[in-house]
Amino acid sequence: MIPPHVMDAALSLPEAPAYLYDLPGLEAHVAAVRKALPGVELYYAVKANPDAELLRVLAGHVDGFEVSSAGEHAHVTGLFPGVPVALGGPGKTDAELRLPHHRIHVESPNELRRLLATGLEADVLLRVNPDLPVEGAALTMSGPFGMDEADVAECLPLFGDRVRLRGVHTHLASGLDAPQLLELAGTLLDNRYEEVNLGGGMAVSYAAPGDRFDWVAYGAGLAGLGRGRRLRIEPGRALTAYCGHYVTRVVDVKRVRGEAYAILLGGTHHLRTPVTKGHDQPFTVLTTGTGPGVEEEPVTFVGQLCTPKDVFARKIMTSVRVGDTVVFEMAGAYAWNISHHDFLMHPKPAFHYLRS
Ligand SMILES: Cc1ncc(COP(=O)(O)O)c(C=O)c1O
Repeated sequence: MIPPHVMDAALSLPEAPAYLYDLPGLEAHVAAVRKALPGVELYYAVKANPDAELLRVLAGHVDGFEVSSAGEHAHVTGLFPGVPVALGGPGKTDAELRLPHHRIHVESPNELRRLLATGLEADVLLRVNPDLPVEGAALTMSGPFGMDEADVAECLPLFGDRVRLRGVHTHLASGLDAPQLLELAGTLLDNRYEEVNLGGGMAVSYAAPGDRFDWVAYGAGLAGLGRGRRLRIEPGRALTAYCGHYVTRVVDVKRVRGEAYAILLGGTHHLRTPVTKGHDQPFTVLTTGTGPGVEEEPVTFVGQLCTPKDVFARKIMTSVRVGDTVVFEMAGAYAWNISHHDFLMHPKPAFHYLRS
């Protein structure tokens, strides 16, 4: 459900395609999340969307930022000098291992040895990859992330006064609801470590945008599990997905082999989320057009790219005309920043920020 003030702004945009970010909406959301998590440190995973305007809003509510590259590190520390950063990510270079941090998430025994070889001080969380079932997850972080028990055991004797073991970090999967995340947290929170970063991955439903992650239940559950330990989480998608909208216009409506298509300005090189996740991006058609169209029938919404993969949403029952404005919701995370902007050299979208 797109808020009325966003609809109004979408209709008065001078150009399309454009990204429209609802900054007051983001502020209200992150403030509510913060309030639901007493005693838990809240970091934002910058990889979800590093847009500086969004980061400025988030900075007023989060305890720090999780960064996964030298680029994200420079961006965040340039915007907010002195802000706590947790530096994570697989395959850190020697230059990245030398970056100042509040915490560094070490991914392997070899990485820990390279960190020790820098001669610098470091506060480490070992990234663990426990063998736990994560049924129902949208994306499971199986593969090269973190380490199993044997590698953790290999790391433990290497710590000392200069490179200090603070605790463990984990990010098991994306798209889990509060009970699932609490169950995993309960399994992980044994008594060995006094500090635990439980990662991100809070569920965001593109099929039912109104179904939101239950932050209150999660916060209450974590309060019960924490028992004096220092807990941290680092959500990305569930913080910024809802504040972003991709606004575009219909350039053509046609029928091919009986199926109706609406061809939109722009494409998934601006908003790659539906392609990467294989979903229909939720949208609303605003009837601004007077051109030819179709009435209440299944329509597939595509962009201007020369590939059959350039699909925003498939066979959605709707009416649509040439000239209509289409507003895609939930385009605030893993959207513009993960898209292949330069494919076909179409113009870039404009960026607009609602401030009140
Ligand atoms: C280590 C780590 N932390 C946090 C996140 C953020 O996850 P999400 O955006 O699903 O909350 C990711 C995403 O891949 C991640 O890899």
